[in-house]
Amino acid sequence: MSNNNIQIFDTTLRDGEQVPGCKLNTEQKVIIAEQLDQLGVDVIEAGFPVSSPGDFLSVQAISKIVRHATVCGLTRAVENDIKVAADALQYAVKPRIHTGIGTSDSHIIHKFKSNREDIIKRAYEAVKYAKSFVEDVEFYAEDAGRTDNEYLARVCEAAIKGGATVLNIPDTTGYCLPSEYGAKIKYLKENVKGIEKAILSCHCHNDLGLATANSIEGVINGARQIECTINGIGERAGNTALEEVVMVLKQHPYLDLDTNIKTEMLYGMSQLVSDSMGIYTQPNKAIVGANAFAHSSGIHQDGVIKNRETYEIINPKDVGVTESAIVLTARSGRAALAYRAKNVGYELTKLQLDDVYANFLSFADKKKEINDGDIHQIIETSNVYRQIISA
Ligand code: KIV
Ligand code: ZN
Repeated sequence: MSNNNIQIFDTTLRDGEQVPGCKLNTEQKVIIAEQLDQLGVDVIEAGFPVSSPGDFLSVQAISKIVRHATVCGLTRAVENDIKVAADALQYAVKPRIHTGIGTSDSHIIHKFKSNREDIIKRAYEAVKYAKSFVEDVEFYAEDAGRTDNEYLARVCEAAIKGGATVLNIPDTTGYCLPSEYGAKIKYLKENVKGIEKAILSCHCHNDLGLATANSIEGVINGARQIECTINGIGERAGNTALEEVVMVLKQHPYLDLDTNIKTEMLYGMSQLVSDSMGIYTQPNKAIVGANAFAHSSGIHQDGVIKNRETYEIINPKDVGVTESAIVLTARSGRAALAYRAKNVGYELTKLQLDDVYANFLSFADKKKEINDGDIHQIIETSNVYRQIISA
């Protein structure tokens, strides 16, 4: 793995599945895990094995079928959680235990009714215990986004001492600004003793709509893993969207950071997750939304028909979308109408187009979107119809 390769850690089946009402059964999870493995993710977080017998069985089933990716199970810093996760992961080719504890004062005081030194001790012991089962142990400092950097560095040092291979720095509540999150990663990179023995991981939530920006700042500042979900699903406003971070890195090659993701599979993956979970993807969702490559205003349509790159920074084929869509509405111009008419079999001259366009506008004012059937009707009811069919 080159030092500029960003590991993609997919948590669709764990953090993503925490969306209310989106529970998947083992069979559905196995199908998604197989596709994630094909997609090229480096780590699949398959579940939280101690949380329910169903989750245990899903992690076990996924461990048996995944061939390339590391399979990871979440735990709290609790011995029984860790032991159960190790059991569930026993068939994985590359198993990883993901253990951790809350490190912000809010978590330490209110959730654990404890103190900072005790949390450091629990972090160290949890990692050490996990290490007695598997070589690859990731430690998470929950609510790291609101944990002061000096204390966070001490927690990270304890986790490294226990044998952690990855240090996850979650912005659990989606609180940080990109500059703050980037500075946090830089601080840890420069101040944690033994940091060369582990990689730093970004795990950002989207409460302020900053999850993707924060993850990108994280890797620019030295993190080498991003935790994310397909379509950005997850607790509350969700997690970093896998398709977004992958395409940001691909579209900005000067950052010199790449991933192993087969981007042509992104759209299909998005549809699979959305259909299996029954969560509708917003049409304007970046990369995979229904309108991500749709153009409806006359000026944009004219530009895209002349040259796709005038209004598109991504080639739709690169993410598995067959082509850009020219959507006909009352805001569309002649170029778009001529283009769509040609697609359904009518090559219009300039004069014919003027006539058909006038008819089109009166149709479009009554209807939100004009489909191929409407185009036939518009042409058939135009004054120049006879001319068009006899041409
Ligand atoms: O958001 C978070 O802090 C988490 C951890 C459990 C990794 O999901
Ligand atoms: Zn999370």
